[in-house]
Amino acid sequence: MLKPYELKLEDMGDLAEIIPQADPEVKLSYRAIPAFDQPSRRQIIPVCEPTLGGNEMKYVQRAVETNWISSAGSFIRDFEARFAEAVGAKYGVACANGTVALHLALATLGLEPDDEVIIPTFTMIATANAVTYCGAKPVLIDNEIDYWQMDIDQVEALITPRTKAIVPVHIYGHPVDMDPLMALGRKHGIWVIEDAAEAHGAEYKGKPCGSLGDAAGFSFYGNKIITTGEGGMITTDNRDIARLAWNLRDHAFSQERHFWHKFVGFNYRMTNLQAAVGLAQVEQMPDFVSARRRNAAHYSRLLAGIPGITTPPEAPWAKNVYWMYGILVDAETYGMNRNQLRKVLADNGIETRTFFIPMHCQPVYWEQFKGQRFPVAERLCRDGFYLPSASSLTSDEIEYVAAVIRDACPSLS
Ligand SMILES: Cc1ncc(COP(=O)(O)O)c(C=O)c1O
Repeated sequence: MLKPYELKLEDMGDLAEIIPQADPEVKLSYRAIPAFDQPSRRQIIPVCEPTLGGNEMKYVQRAVETNWISSAGSFIRDFEARFAEAVGAKYGVACANGTVALHLALATLGLEPDDEVIIPTFTMIATANAVTYCGAKPVLIDNEIDYWQMDIDQVEALITPRTKAIVPVHIYGHPVDMDPLMALGRKHGIWVIEDAAEAHGAEYKGKPCGSLGDAAGFSFYGNKIITTGEGGMITTDNRDIARLAWNLRDHAFSQERHFWHKFVGFNYRMTNLQAAVGLAQVEQMPDFVSARRRNAAHYSRLLAGIPGITTPPEAPWAKNVYWMYGILVDAETYGMNRNQLRKVLADNGIETRTFFIPMHCQPVYWEQFKGQRFPVAERLCRDGFYLPSASSLTSDEIEYVAAVIRDACPSLS
């Protein structure tokens, strides 16, 4: 039987200090706040939720009425085309989720055991796992503190003859500095696969994420800027990658004859029902992106000047879509630490989520990266968390959340 990788906090040395406590229980007190005494459809403010206000029902109904509910209906093709167009790419390959979008994209490259793939340690576990599924080795890199993204300056030193790919992750919807990364990729003959799971509509120097690398993987999980419930997509301009990915996602059925397989393929298909939702969502993507940016600007205005709170950055060359509106808490300056502030927010009916736990601190990868340290990723993990970030968030809700953070600040009292 499969055994879990066990890692005890007491065996992690000083790294144990950055590991977040269990999430505080969110109290249903949001409605009860007198200063905010107006009808609300929610009792707590969730950290995220989907917005399904467009043609979702209409398109799903059409899929059901026409009997195309599996993975061969026309909504798949329409969604692939519309989403690829929205992110400035030639091809879209819809699949079951963002994790397998990355796995599929990497699988098309023909990685071999012991090949190396450079990824940031500060990411969601799926980035590292997609590399591991291919039998290749993730090689970790730290983030930079200015924009919280993979530190491009550290990449070249990590390149070896076994490096086959780099996977920059546009963390929380802010693009990575891609030009120097692409130049490195070209110089060394290394593929660059964007992990754009969180970056729908984000732009780097005016070009959309998803069109910057050799290919990209998106997620349409329920908390993403557009969603299909579960779902993902590869976008690429590379015809060979797209063709192989379409084939591999569908058991690698051969063109020559049925039930004839020349690759070890996967069933990573998306259903027409999901694509029906996806098409309705992509129609609304510009509105969702504007809402995220407007909400982020509102939050940042209200939180500015609270001692010890760092609001999310935006590089001069970036259009950040603030998939999640994350803040950092400097415990000494603010007067309490991240975990304590999260508890205050939870007691006021506000759900939050801590930043990612870096890959080198994960039980599954601990032995692989033991002894390696990544100070910026560790700081982000220790001090970072995100506030309610849905596109549907109202101005009043943002003002309420910001007021709780301001009122709770011991340094201001
Ligand atoms: C950076 C990143 N990569 C990959 C994924 C995986 O996407 P999915 O959950 O759709 O498999 C996520 C999901 O949240 C993510 O945040």
